[in-house]
Order: sequence, then structure tokens, then C-alpha cells
Amino acid sequence: MKPFDYIAVETIAEACDVLAEHGADATVLAGGTDLLIEFRRTSAKLPKVVVDVSGVGELSGIVESNDAIVIKPLTTHSELMRSEALRKFAPLLVSATASIGSLQIRNRGTVGGNIMNAAACADTVPPLIALGATVTLQSKTGCREMELASLFLKPYQTKARPDELLTAIRFSKRPPNAHSAFIKLGRRNALFIARLSVAAMLETGEDGKIVDARIVPGAAFPIWRRATEAEQMLIGAKPTEKLFAAAGQKVSEAMIKETGRRWSTEYKEPVLAVLVRRALERCGLVAQVSKPAVSPTSKSAGHDHTPGISRFQRQAGLETRATIPAGSIKRETGRASSECAIATTINGRSHTLSIPANRTLLDLLRDDLGLAGTKCGCEIGECGACTVLLDGEPVNSCLVLASQIAGREVTTVEGLAQNAKLDPLQKSFLDHDAVHCGFCTPGMLISARALLDQNPHPNETEIRAAISGNLCRCTGYQQIIDAVEKAAPHCRSVASGVSPDVEDGILPSGMASDISRASELATTSPPGRMPSSTAGQRPAVT
Ligand SMILES: Cc1cc2nc3c(=O)[nH]c(=O)nc-3n(C[C@H](O)[C@H](O)[C@H](O)COP(=O)(O)OP(=O)(O)OC[C@H]3O[C@@H](n4cnc5c(N)ncnc54)[C@H](O)[C@@H]3O)c2cc1C
Ligand code: FES
Ligand code: FES
Repeated sequence: MKPFDYIAVETIAEACDVLAEHGADATVLAGGTDLLIEFRRTSAKLPKVVVDVSGVGELSGIVESNDAIVIKPLTTHSELMRSEALRKFAPLLVSATASIGSLQIRNRGTVGGNIMNAAACADTVPPLIALGATVTLQSKTGCREMELASLFLKPYQTKARPDELLTAIRFSKRPPNAHSAFIKLGRRNALFIARLSVAAMLETGEDGKIVDARIVPGAAFPIWRRATEAEQMLIGAKPTEKLFAAAGQKVSEAMIKETGRRWSTEYKEPVLAVLVRRALERCGLVAQVSKPAVSPTSKSAGHDHTPGISRFQRQAGLETRATIPAGSIKRETGRASSECAIATTINGRSHTLSIPANRTLLDLLRDDLGLAGTKCGCEIGECGACTVLLDGEPVNSCLVLASQIAGREVTTVEGLAQNAKLDPLQKSFLDHDAVHCGFCTPGMLISARALLDQNPHPNETEIRAAISGNLCRCTGYQQIIDAVEKAAPHCRSVASGVSPDVEDGILPSGMASDISRASELATTSPPGRMPSSTAGQRPAVT
């Protein structure tokens, strides 16, 4: 990654001052899951100054009032999924966020970043437009509010000026007779970008006729918009399958009118019509919409995607995480610099570090601290080999700037074994032959450890969901799933202070050699990058 200057801010006012000073030379950094990939592109024009707003507490959280919901832009996708208010008043948004990337991506990626990146396939945008959301842009000179639908100029370009910060996303609560659905079409079951998506919302009157209809396709029109042609067909009519099919056809025709016929039209034309029909049908199925399925699932081309929330995700907390109190992040703030001084904790050990601004957490761990257990695979958030825990949540360390771990706690695979005793999960991986080349193992162990910390009784679906952001190219997933399942009771015992595997510090037979084998796996195997045969590999899980 080319060098840049970095500045961490802790308040909106501070962010606006810095943006006003640096103008088009500055770029706002939130979770970094889009931006760091962009920074790595050799052809990318890097900003001179990266303004890290991730420590601005007032930009995080969800506020519910009597008639409206305000989502602050730094709220992560995982936090959106856990919000009771959203589950009640915006289930289609919860479904959309549940389908985003992997758990690692959802733990870092923010709703504000998703909107401002303005990719045609951004999953939160169609549901938010269907909800009638407005956005607030703030600068040193004031605030302006606009409809989300009118924020976009074209893919990857918004109307926000370089000195403006997105500070709020607001929508009115829908009435109880509003039914909604979100459907996403992708190629695989996890880590898939929308080929097409549809957010739909219907309200019916006492006579059963439709009084309000909203249909917003994703990745279909050049710019997001409501499919008003089809919406008008629905208003005043009684919902029927035939009517919904006709509406689907209308949306498909509108797409072709605007985009023209292209290579993708052959499948998009019929598929969009079907997705719209299904989304509208699903609006009538209140139970399915308000009670999502057990785990985030999707089906491949031609099938619905009905992502839900696993028990693991539910247990992680029902409301959004408390906002970060301003001033709680331990790092230098206030001036742009190519070098950052941070205080952080890694595997329980405090570190005070001075690091180049463009260093990722992955680089820091492997190259600077010699913690080579964390592997470097794709560096674009897809393989999960670099997974570590950041304040207990799995994240891709290749997509976190090292400066962003200031004041936070990182756990790598080296931090799992305690007092020369393997974590029961590590032992279980060895016992169940869940390790072949070992490249994915540290990331798998970290994802599985996070699952067991939150959910001591995971079922197979939940285990598959938890490791769906980790690719394995050689073991096959079943042994890994078995290892996690079998380790669960032992991990519970360890948490309660009694380990059935280790008594009074004496290692059971075979354990000592297990430790040396595991530490070898954690630190040396295989050193560099994931072999190229992994590229494009599809996970066979969830
Ligand atoms: C492996 C992988 C899978 C993914 N899967 C999906 C998916 O399924 N669906 C999907 O929609 N996305 C997906 N994404 C994209 C990405 O994770 C999301 O778009 C995420 O929400 C971006 O949020 P962020 O906080 O990481 O943004 P960042 O990368 O920090 O920023 C993105 C852009 O928004 C701007 N920005 C951020 N916050 C503000 C603000 N408050 N004010 C002004 N500008 C701001 C930044 O300057 C930048 O231009 C995926 C990404 C990866 C790497
Ligand atoms: S996800 Fe980070 S290296 Fe692949
Ligand atoms: S053991 Fe999973 S990639 Fe080899």
C-alpha cells in the first residue's frame, strides 16, 4: 500500500474541521472494508490524508424515537442485525445486512461506508430507499438533509462534497400493516455480492387493497430508484400472484429500457421479474418476514435469499453495542502524520508502538511482532486466513489499519493456548484431523473460538455460519465442523475453570506433542501467501 498521512478524530466537529482544511485531498475512513481494498489497487489514486472517524462515538448507534429511527453511520452491519428496533420496524434491512460478506466483514463494515461507497450492489441501500430514508451530510458550514435516493450521481459517486461527512440516516417507523421483504441473488452461500436484489414493502387498507407499494431493485438500474411504474400498478388493487407477476415483468422492462440489452440481460430480464414477484409475495407472508430463518442462508441463481439471524448472532446482544465514549481510544489525534503512536493489547500483553500510517494489522502482527500464526492469503477479505479477534469479535486483519487497534484488544491464534496448555478447540482440531496443510487453521480456530465464547451449544448450522468467512482448500469442512462441535463441552468447562482434559497442570498423554505440533502450525506453516490454487475457491459451507 502506498504511503499516506493519517489523522484520527474523536468528534464530528473535529472531523469537519479536518475535512474543511484538506478538502479533496482527504478521504474518510470508517470500517475500511471497501477503502483498504481500493488503497491496495496499484492504479488507485490515494488520498493525501486519511481521516479515521472510527473512534467518533457520536457517529455510532441506533436511536429510536416515537415515530422515527435514526441510524448513525458508524453502526456496523453486525450491530444493525442485533438491533431489536430494526428487527421490529425494518426487518428487510436486517435481512439485507445479514447477507453482507462474512461475519468478519459485518463486524467491521458500517452502514455509512456501505452507502457512501455507492457500489451498485450495496445491500443496505435498496431497503433504506424502500423505507424512505433520508441522510444528513454535515460540514463545517452546516448540515443538509436529502432523500437517500437522491444522494447518488452514479455508481461509486455521491453528491456529498469532499468536506461533508455523513452523520445520520433517518426513516419514519412504518405502520403495523406494512409488510416487507428483501431478496438477494448471488452465486454462493456466503461472501457473495448481489447479482440482483429486491427490497419490497406493501401496506394494505382495511379492505385488503394495497394502499402503499415500494419496490427497489438493487444492481438493476444505473442509479437506485423506486420502480414507480410497477408500484402504480399495485396501488388500489387486491394482492394476487398474477398482479405480482405483472409487476415483476414491469420492473424488468423498465430495467432494459434504461440499461439497454447487454450480455447480462439474458438472465437478468427473466430473473428480475421473478425476484420482484417473490419479494412481493413474501410481503404477504408476515410470519416469514418478521421471524427470519435460523441462520443467514441464501440459495443460488433462481432461488430466494432469506437471510436470518443465528442464535450465535442473537446471543451476541440484542441492542447495538454501546457507543464508543469520545476520548476512550488511546492514540494520537489532532494532526495528520505518516507515522502513528498507539497503545494496544495483543494476546494480553500491552504494547506501545510507533507504526507507519499505511501498515495493516496483518502486517504489524506478522512482520513487526513476529506473530506469524495469522496467515496472509488474499488480502481482500475473502479467505479469512488473517482472522483475529478485535475486542472479542472476529475481523479480517488485512482490512484493519494497525493504527485502528489503538486502545483495543487483539487476540491471535498464539493467544489461544494458555500456560502451555492447548485450547480444547486446538486439541479437538488435532484429534479430528481438521488440519491438513494448516494454512486456514489459525483463522478457523479464531472464528470457532469466537462462536464458542458467545454460544456454548452451537448446532451444525451455527458452526457453518460462524466459519463461513474462512476458506479451506484441502481439509474439507466436515472434520472442522466435527472438531468444533466436539470441542464445545470442553470449552465450556474451561470457561468455568475446570478443564476435563488437563488436571493440575499435568498434560494428558500425547498432549505435549500436540502442543509442539500446534505451535508449529501456528507459527510456521506455510509461511508466505496462500497458494494460488486457492484463488477463486468457493466455500462449501452454510
Ligand atoms: C470480502 C468482502 C465482502 C463484501 N460483501 C458485501 C456484500 O455482500 N454486500 C455489500 O453491500 N457490501 C459488501 N462488501 C463491501 C463493504 O464491506 C461494505 O460496503 C461496508 O459496509 C463498507 O463499510 P466500511 O465502514 O468498511 O467503509 P469504508 O471502507 O471505511 O468506506 C467506504 C467509503 O465510504 C466513505 N465513508 C465512510 N463513512 C463515511 C461517512 N460517515 N461520511 C462520508 N463518507 C464516508 C469512505 O470515504 C469510503 O469512500 C464486502 C466487502 C468485502 C471486502
Ligand atoms: S481475508 Fe485477509 S488475507 Fe484473506
Ligand atoms: S487445512 Fe485448510 S487450507 Fe489447508
